[in-house]
Amino acid sequence: MKKLIFILSLISQSMLAQNVNYDEAKIPPYTLPDIMTGVDGKKITTTQQWEANRPALLQLFTENVYGPTPAIATKFHSKLLETNSNALGGKAIRKQVLITFDDYPQLKGINILLYIPKNVAKPPVFVGLNFEGNHSIGDDPAVFITQNWMVDFQKNSERVKDNKALEASRGKAVVETWAAEMIIEKGFAIATAYYGDIEPDHTEGWKSGLRGAIGMTDDQKWSAMGAWAWQLSRMMDYLETDAHINSKKAIVVGHSRLGKAAFWAAAQDQRFAAFISNESGEGGAALKRRWYGETHEIINDKFPHWFSGKYKTYGGNIQSLPFDQHQLFGLIAPRPVYVTSAEGDQWADPNGQFLSLKNAEHVFALYGKKGLGADTHPSLNQPVGSHIRYHYRTGKHDMNAYDWEQYLKFAREVVSN
Ligand code: GCU
Repeated sequence: MKKLIFILSLISQSMLAQNVNYDEAKIPPYTLPDIMTGVDGKKITTTQQWEANRPALLQLFTENVYGPTPAIATKFHSKLLETNSNALGGKAIRKQVLITFDDYPQLKGINILLYIPKNVAKPPVFVGLNFEGNHSIGDDPAVFITQNWMVDFQKNSERVKDNKALEASRGKAVVETWAAEMIIEKGFAIATAYYGDIEPDHTEGWKSGLRGAIGMTDDQKWSAMGAWAWQLSRMMDYLETDAHINSKKAIVVGHSRLGKAAFWAAAQDQRFAAFISNESGEGGAALKRRWYGETHEIINDKFPHWFSGKYKTYGGNIQSLPFDQHQLFGLIAPRPVYVTSAEGDQWADPNGQFLSLKNAEHVFALYGKKGLGADTHPSLNQPVGSHIRYHYRTGKHDMNAYDWEQYLKFAREVVSN
């Protein structure tokens, strides 16, 4: 009988998970794994115990979500392809740097676009991947147009044809905004690269991307998210060598799927001083156990290349996942974190993103860092918290000027600490 009830509950869980729920009252009860219990089952009450637990928790995410990052033993070279000290109306230095890998000439490399404010010595920097190529983030005519395969997000054949970006796509990113002028004005640098430099975002993309280049034959062992997080760390390697930048104050930021990648990069690579999740949603900031918006089953069905094979085995049984996303935030602590949601992006489960960060507060508290200062989801356009922060804004799924205004305030505090 017990077995039958268990099977029936699994069936009903998996039926629910195929559907999308937008009603808070319909979310079945769930219990989050206790963040203050280590992977070894012991209670955590000190920072030393938390740090001792860190590798095992990281390993849990590695094994179950992204797959282990392969040892990629190759020499990297960075080459300054182009620079100009009068970019963005004379306020910034522009650099276009290409990182190449000795053993993988089939990869064209990572093309980093940097804007560095002229009036600040060694400024802090926002680091992030972009969706539609470096040339799409602004109308700067000197920025190279990527030659790499691209998702036709806009369905506009004048901008992207046969999955290749055309000149008409310059400055026309619609997937996210990079407020370059505003950022420079406030004394921060930007380092961005196109995520398709490392892996084209489609189910077969791994073959022609990094995973294929290093000889992987099983696309389920490591994941596209793993590869994009790796890309962010290589960008960080470069920043450490650039005398114009303060790489100790590098804030990694990402929107949506690129927020999911930035999350994993920040958790693994402690060189990133802070993390900003812009509507990263399912597989990002949102709690996995909440049945609201996009589900585990839907994301893995639609984007099987984003996460590793083991992750998919939790389909229909998400309650058995040995962790939830609040623990990924724990892995970033005590570094500052900003999480955002939008009213028009219920798909990303705003409250689930808030609760995820909320449930990580205990770890930040171990380090004497304050929490969000709110127990329930805040109203629109009312940012809460300080060291860890959250906002829910009006508007659609996007990274927009309102978001950047808040990020710049947050970043100012990050750099002053
Ligand atoms: C889809 C996907 C989301 C993702 C988003 C994006 O909507 O379901 O998980 O975050 O694309 O990257 O814009």
